[in-house]
Amino acid sequence: MSAEIRVAEHSGLFVTFEGGEGAGKSTQIRRLADQLRRRGHDVLVTREPGGSPGAEAVRHVLLSGAAEEFGVRMEAILFAAARNDHVEEVIRPALESGAVVLCDRFIDSSRVYQGVTGNLEWDFIERLQRIAIDGVMPDCTLILDLPAEIGLKRARKRGAGNAPDRFEREEIETHEKRREAYLEIAEAEPERCHIVNAERSEEEIADEIFAVVEPLARELGFTHSSSAESVG
Ligand code: TYD
Repeated sequence: MSAEIRVAEHSGLFVTFEGGEGAGKSTQIRRLADQLRRRGHDVLVTREPGGSPGAEAVRHVLLSGAAEEFGVRMEAILFAAARNDHVEEVIRPALESGAVVLCDRFIDSSRVYQGVTGNLEWDFIERLQRIAIDGVMPDCTLILDLPAEIGLKRARKRGAGNAPDRFEREEIETHEKRREAYLEIAEAEPERCHIVNAERSEEEIADEIFAVVEPLARELGFTHSSSAESVG
């Protein structure tokens, strides 16, 4: 599926979080960041669309629905423009400095939201992503999985008083289709993707995520100390 995407070398660890609405991504990212920082890791938390000044400017256009009337192709290109700015201004420099980068949504959101439920050709989406990320592919992706109905209920409760955004307004079947699309991506890329059952308690979910990410972050620490030793 993504086999043609070139992967750039970096010394940090790039972890992305994906899933439908109300899956609890931001809570889990916060918890993981705290746990990793307590163990001495340099952690950067970021999100999409947004994460850099240029991308935040595009975020408003996308989430308000201002670009919707121009079609899903236009929206996909705007998401990609925001992603490229975010990668070059924030993510790549952080990875090059050896940080653990935790990002709320990334390439798989475009594949699922614009590609699958937006009905854009897969090849178009993949070509766009290749340009947007220029080799900065996640090392690990946690897909927080739960039935669309439960996720939407949670998202509505969380946003009580606020109008749902452009993507939250869509029908339940669309949200269910996205869930299936995420599961298919995980099946196609089992080394990168981990499905996490998000119907459980916050603690149980956090424990599973930590068990997946901490060994990767630890490996990073070893890489650094051994390369420091070989220099000396
Ligand atoms: P956001 O308010 O950040 O919510 P969430 O908690 O769901 O992450 O909204 C981001 C919305 O943008 C979300 O509905 C998914 C959508 N999106 C895309 O359609 N394509 C993309 O490439 C990205 C990054 C997000």
